[in-house]
Amino acid sequence: MTRPEAAETGSSRRRFLIGGALAGAAGVTVGLRATLPASADEGQPGGHEHGHGGGVAGPTFRKGGTVDHAANGFNPTAILRDFDYGTVSRTADGRVLREWEIYAADEEIEIAPGVRFPAWTFNSRIPGPTLRCTEGDRLRVKFTNGSAHPHTMHFHGIHPADMDGVPGSGAGVIAPGGSTVYEFDAEPFGLHLYHCHVGPLAEHIARGLYGTFIVDPPQPRPRADELVMVMHGFNTTFDGEGNQLYAVNGIPFHYMHEPVRVRRGELVRVYLVNTLEYDPINSFHLHGNFFDYYPTGTRLEPSEFTDTVVQAQGQRGICEIRFKHPGQFMFHAHKSEFAELGWMGMFEVTE
Ligand code: CU
Ligand code: CU
Repeated sequence: MTRPEAAETGSSRRRFLIGGALAGAAGVTVGLRATLPASADEGQPGGHEHGHGGGVAGPTFRKGGTVDHAANGFNPTAILRDFDYGTVSRTADGRVLREWEIYAADEEIEIAPGVRFPAWTFNSRIPGPTLRCTEGDRLRVKFTNGSAHPHTMHFHGIHPADMDGVPGSGAGVIAPGGSTVYEFDAEPFGLHLYHCHVGPLAEHIARGLYGTFIVDPPQPRPRADELVMVMHGFNTTFDGEGNQLYAVNGIPFHYMHEPVRVRRGELVRVYLVNTLEYDPINSFHLHGNFFDYYPTGTRLEPSEFTDTVVQAQGQRGICEIRFKHPGQFMFHAHKSEFAELGWMGMFEVTE
C-alpha cells in the first residue's frame, strides 16, 4: 500500500511537467492543468495518440516529435563524437600547447517539441564543447562572458589556486562583457568536467554551464568508437526542486528518435559524466550487455564489470562495451522516473 504522502510527492513532478513545461508551452491554461491525471505517461515516446486531460491538445513525446536542432545550433548525435583538441602549437620549452576560446551566452533552446528553455551556454550548446588533451600538455583557455550574468570556468583537475575559476581567487568572477585566460597543465589523466562556479551555483549549473574535459593518458587507450554522454536535467519551473525533464547531451529522448549507431564486436568507449542538479543521484543502465567501468578514468584497469553504474553530481567514469548481438538495445537511468521524463535512449548495433 502506498503511503499517501509518498503518492503525493511522486505525482507532483509529473504535474509540473504537464502543467509547467509542456502544457504551459502550448498555452493550456492553469485551470485545465489541474485536472490532468497524475498517472498520464506523458514521458513515453510512442505513447499517447492524443493530448492529455480530456481532449486538451498539448505537445507529447510521441514518436516523431522532435526539436529543431538547426535552430538550437547543436545536435546531440553530433555531440556524441565531437572532440575539441583546441589549436595546437608548442611552448618555448617544446611542450604541446592547446588553446581554446570559450564564450558564455544566454540563449533559448527548444528542449522538447514546443518547450523553450532559457539556457546559459558555453559555446552555444548543452553540454559545452568536449575539451580533450593529453596528460602533460599545457592548456590555455580564453573565456569571454557574453552572458548578462557573471560566470566562470572551473575545471576539475590538478592546478594552481588562481586558475581554479572560483570567486575570490585569480581573476575571480567574470562580469558580463569581461574575459580572462585560464592556463594550467593537464593532469591527472582521466575523465573530468568543467562548469561555472558562480552562485547561486545550482542555477548556474542547471541552466547549462558544464562540459566534458578529457585528459588522455600518455600512452593512448586502445582504439575504440568513442562517445561522450553528459547526463543532466531541466528544472523548467525554476523552483530548485527536482527536474521536469532529464536528458543526455541536451535533448530529452533524443536517442530514442536517433539511436546511437555502433558496430557489433567493436570496442565502444563511453565517457559518462553526471552534471545533474537538484537530484542527488543519477545512473546509467545498459540492456542486453555488460561493460567494464573505469571510475573517473584515472586508472587503466576497470573496477567493475557491470550493466549499471550510479553517479552523484560531478562523478564520471568510462564504460567500455563490446556489443555481442546486433539489434536495438536500450540505455537509460535506472531510476524509472528519470527515464520516463527523458533519460532513455537506444543503441542500434549493426554488423
Ligand atoms: Cu555562471
Ligand atoms: Cu565540479
